Amino acid sequence: MESAVATGMEQVLAYHQRTKHRLERYAEGPDFLDWDQQPDPFRRYLGTPLIPLPLQFDQLPDPGLHELTSLQSGKALADWGLTELSSLLRHSLGLAAWKVQGPDRWALRCNPSSGNLHPTEGYLAVRGLQGLHDGIYHYAPHEHALELRARFEATTSDTPPTRPMLLMGLSSIAWREAWKYGERAYRYVHLDLGHAIGALAYAAATLGARLTRVNASEAQLVTLMGLDREDDFIGAERERPDLLLKLSDGTHGEEAAKPLEAWLAQARAAQWHGQANTLSSHPSHQWPIIEEVAEATPSSSEPDRIPDQLPALPEPQAMFRESARKLILQRRSAQAFSGKASLPRASFFQLLDSLLPRPDQVPWNSWPYQSRLHLVLFVHRVDDLSPGLYLLIRRQAALPALKEALREEFLWSQVDGAPAHLSLYHLIGADAKRAARRLSCHQDIAASGCFSLGMLAEFDRALEERGPRAYPELFWEAGLIGQVLYLQAEAAGVRGTGIGCFFDDAVHETLGLSGSRFQSLYHFTVGHPKGDDRLQTLPPYQHLQRS
Ligand SMILES: Cc1cc2nc3c(=O)[nH]c(=O)nc-3n(C[C@H](O)[C@H](O)[C@H](O)COP(=O)(O)O)c2cc1C
Repeated sequence: MESAVATGMEQVLAYHQRTKHRLERYAEGPDFLDWDQQPDPFRRYLGTPLIPLPLQFDQLPDPGLHELTSLQSGKALADWGLTELSSLLRHSLGLAAWKVQGPDRWALRCNPSSGNLHPTEGYLAVRGLQGLHDGIYHYAPHEHALELRARFEATTSDTPPTRPMLLMGLSSIAWREAWKYGERAYRYVHLDLGHAIGALAYAAATLGARLTRVNASEAQLVTLMGLDREDDFIGAERERPDLLLKLSDGTHGEEAAKPLEAWLAQARAAQWHGQANTLSSHPSHQWPIIEEVAEATPSSSEPDRIPDQLPALPEPQAMFRESARKLILQRRSAQAFSGKASLPRASFFQLLDSLLPRPDQVPWNSWPYQSRLHLVLFVHRVDDLSPGLYLLIRRQAALPALKEALREEFLWSQVDGAPAHLSLYHLIGADAKRAARRLSCHQDIAASGCFSLGMLAEFDRALEERGPRAYPELFWEAGLIGQVLYLQAEAAGVRGTGIGCFFDDAVHETLGLSGSRFQSLYHFTVGHPKGDDRLQTLPPYQHLQRS
């Protein structure tokens, strides 16, 4: 057992090193893009009963983003109908718009994805929900419908009936990312998963509900999502299971959890339907290292949170009070920034504050793990804040290690006017635009916004404490941070963009870091977006003609 962990760790470290972008050479990827091979972003199970979901949500409460703290006044799951379920999916993994440019047309979703390639698939296991047979469903975002994969038989062992329950499973099709990005794709798959977990947490919170991770082994996950059903995937790209989430409703009472074994027994006994579609006609290069590192990082999920004591989020400024659902639907990645306007300092602090892992705050209430990521900020245009490098510490106990590891000449001065609980340090005054652009693969968006950042993970420590499994989890935490930034940026009247392309060790060298104690895993930028007149935007579900 120990040697399996040791081997897993070596594989993770080797993969991480090997898939670094370097100034002189990008990580291994395809020499050219064979557009005919671009995988279909929509998985379908052909031959399954399709249950269309409603698209009218007027009768649902419409809380502001700032109101989404812990469970509020949501309905009991027993009172959920298809509308609540529909809203959960529509506002997380559903379509947000279509973009059209000349002959090209592509869908955007509420959850962002590296290259808009969307490797993440969503499954539901439900029982006792109004309007739905008990069983296992796949969510089809293009149709905004559920595909009934397995229908549970009624069992006598369930009497008296247990309370209604809803589990949400997430899986990934790495080929969708690998097709374009080659070996680095595993990282993007897991960043995207973090965004998807965040998107689901926000959508659940608008319904007064909460999603938390269920401890399930990989074997249990494949059974529950039907991913081990060889015959259903003939000629189709396989999916890897990632995690299972359980929905807790607004009644506050934690239901006596139906043991996972009971779900699995029903899944095994059920009649399954559907044949997975083929996503690209013949994948030309599979990048085997992705499968190898995935094998080395099996799922497990014992929570380990020891949260810092933090005061409640301060009352938000008026602009942060916008409807959460409206912000979720309008979220987009900025393709370019104006390069001129600045961000009010209060908005900047509010944005950073929302990234602190308060256990009652969305999405951190879905993430029962220690924070292991800290932010290095390249501040370009924030009112009354001198441009330069700053550091936001998200777990106070990491301060000594960061001080020891980062460049000696850094100032570590407190930022005037910042809330006292915000561990925000000024490291160095500088025009950091050139450095930010260069480090983020020469992308202008890292320099032309108000600020950009790198997410520094406590890499060695996480792997030592949680084993190889920590590796994808670090990317999930990074994706969650990204999702908060996307939505909070919209609330602040600006816009964000995730940046997966950066030169890893050049970032580390700039900060004076050596070894793998701290590693930058994801970059992000926020600013005033510049529109693109060449693109036309169409509504997301016009093609369904369903009200
Ligand atoms: C993990 C991740 C990495 C990304 N990396 C980049 C990047 O390096 N450069 C960029 O311009 N956009 C990047 N994006 C933005 C995506 O291209 C964008 O999310 C996608 O095109 C979908 O558009 P939307 O966010 O407006 O829905 C990234 C997004 C994610 C989630």
